Amino acid sequence: MISIEDFVEDIVGKAMRGYKISVQDLASKSGASSTSIAGLLNGKIDEATIASIAPHLNLDPESLIIAGQKSWYPEPVNVKGLEMYNTKWADMYVNSYLVWDSTTGIATAFDTGANSEKLIETVRLNNLTLESIYLTHTHTDHIADLARLKSSFPSIRVFVSEKEPLAEAELIEDRHNFSIGSLSVKSNLTWGHSKGGLTYVINGLERPIAIVGDALFAGSMGGGMVSYMDALKTNRKYIFTLPDHTVICPGHGPMSSIGEEKKNNPFYPEFKK
Ligand SMILES: [Fe+2]
Repeated sequence: MISIEDFVEDIVGKAMRGYKISVQDLASKSGASSTSIAGLLNGKIDEATIASIAPHLNLDPESLIIAGQKSWYPEPVNVKGLEMYNTKWADMYVNSYLVWDSTTGIATAFDTGANSEKLIETVRLNNLTLESIYLTHTHTDHIADLARLKSSFPSIRVFVSEKEPLAEAELIEDRHNFSIGSLSVKSNLTWGHSKGGLTYVINGLERPIAIVGDALFAGSMGGGMVSYMDALKTNRKYIFTLPDHTVICPGHGPMSSIGEEKKNNPFYPEFKK
């Protein structure tokens, strides 16, 4: 089973960095002690501290406590025409995905992860035609095996956001639409974790699919390395407006769904009311 990417200490750390709030500031705002906040950031679970700091970081207290208890895990996802690959990169794991249209056998890869051998194997075993690779963003772990994947399929085309140009890839604009056989795909700029982070929304399989890169994780989100506020804003605009049964395919951690994220993701308290 793929581990949840972020636990309470990661979530609180991301929100504190996002709002540029120090341990001291948070202690004086919330009434919790600096020692207990520092303890929480080191993984020491203290539900009273979680409940008192959450509102000052715009986090949902209940789902943050659940993250602390490690008691939630998303429902398994089984969709024909969607496969996830979880590969080891340095001391972490990263996901890449293959999506295909069963009627035409046409397939597209989303990111490469650390190792694309299994993805290549799925293409060969199912006699698929891998036409393209669409990148969610260009952080090294997500594109680490691009050379192998490209050279395995000589006519393959690689696409990336024009906001994160890459020598090996053709550039696409936000709102770029394309198809994978009979499946339709729309890209939306969900930036903030990276400058040109794209979310690809695929329709035509048994459930809608959103390949989100590091914009959103099951129960968390990628850090707002470029802009925390824009990461929150673009996720709200382009991801949380999708139907509840949409599958979330993140760059790290397990797959999830919009409905589950509305209930369990502490960064979006507005859906818990
Ligand atoms: Fe990333």
